[in-house]
Amino acid sequence: MEIENVCVIGAGVMGSGIAQLAATHRYQVNLVDINEEILKKAKASIDKNLNRFFVAKNKISNEEADNILNRIHLITNRDEAINDVQIVIEAVFEDMALKQQLLSDLDEKCDKEVIIASNTSSLCITDMAMKAKNQERIVGIHFFNPAPVMKLIELIKGKNTSNEIMDRARQFSKTLNKTVVTVNDSPGFITTRLIYVLCNEAINMKQEGIANTEDIDTAVKLAFNFPMGPLELSDLVGNDIYLHIGEYLSEKLGKNYQPSPLLHEMVKDNQIGRKTKKGFYNY
Ligand SMILES: NC(=O)c1ccc[n+]([C@@H]2O[C@H](COP(=O)([O-])OP(=O)(O)OC[C@H]3O[C@@H](n4cnc5c(N)ncnc54)[C@H](O)[C@@H]3O)[C@@H](O)[C@H]2O)c1
Repeated sequence: MEIENVCVIGAGVMGSGIAQLAATHRYQVNLVDINEEILKKAKASIDKNLNRFFVAKNKISNEEADNILNRIHLITNRDEAINDVQIVIEAVFEDMALKQQLLSDLDEKCDKEVIIASNTSSLCITDMAMKAKNQERIVGIHFFNPAPVMKLIELIKGKNTSNEIMDRARQFSKTLNKTVVTVNDSPGFITTRLIYVLCNEAINMKQEGIANTEDIDTAVKLAFNFPMGPLELSDLVGNDIYLHIGEYLSEKLGKNYQPSPLLHEMVKDNQIGRKTKKGFYNY
């Protein structure tokens, strides 16, 4: 069954990026969120991104940018949005109960050939699919931010995901011009587990007074040729997000993943990073 129409649920940072990416690759996209205001804001930000990063750099024409925007349809009624699509990708908040409920609703309402995918960055697909009847069609398709630019997709095979769905999800991901890696379901997959450990260990070093913030970041950037230091990155992603990931990983994988006490303290003091203008750096 060829994919022509895509539904993306959640029009935040990731959902709007995924919608832009899919529409750029000529899919018709139904973009869903809880109200029209959020959807309009998402479309305005896609418009801005297309102009700033693609039209202004002569990568696409004005006409093509308009065509991409016209392929994105804003819909608040989820039942309407899943009508006649071949894949649904959810990008709602990172919350297990919310995603479990959403996936089971989608499973109940989507035609049986439809692929149901989650863009979770850390939660186990198997647990997330637990409440759905047809768990074989539920798969993780993990995009990176910004989705239209980043080259990688992690494709996550839940315990019950079928090989056929994996193949179809892989083919779809490749049509988006991404490099795909396959991961057997595990908390944090490859990328989130590794980047969390790096950032959390840097935060432990900072707490132990091994080096100051700037020196930890400079050492990592120059020694490993990373574009950004771990403390800068934690501020960018949000220290609250890393705390949340650390709590989940330590619950699932053991105490080696326990979030640094300094990370707890910073979140308690609202030093979340760029979002609150205060974190390891001031903004
Ligand atoms: N931000 C990142 O860098 C990043 C990268 C990869 C994956 N992810 C994952 O992508 C998902 C979304 O993250 P985000 O950063 O885009 O979040 P976000 O907060 O920017 O957006 C989430 C959106 O989901 C909407 N939403 C919530 N419940 C909904 C529902 N029931 N129906 C429709 N819409 C609903 C919200 O209104 C909001 O607009 C999370 O699972 C996150 O872990 C995030």
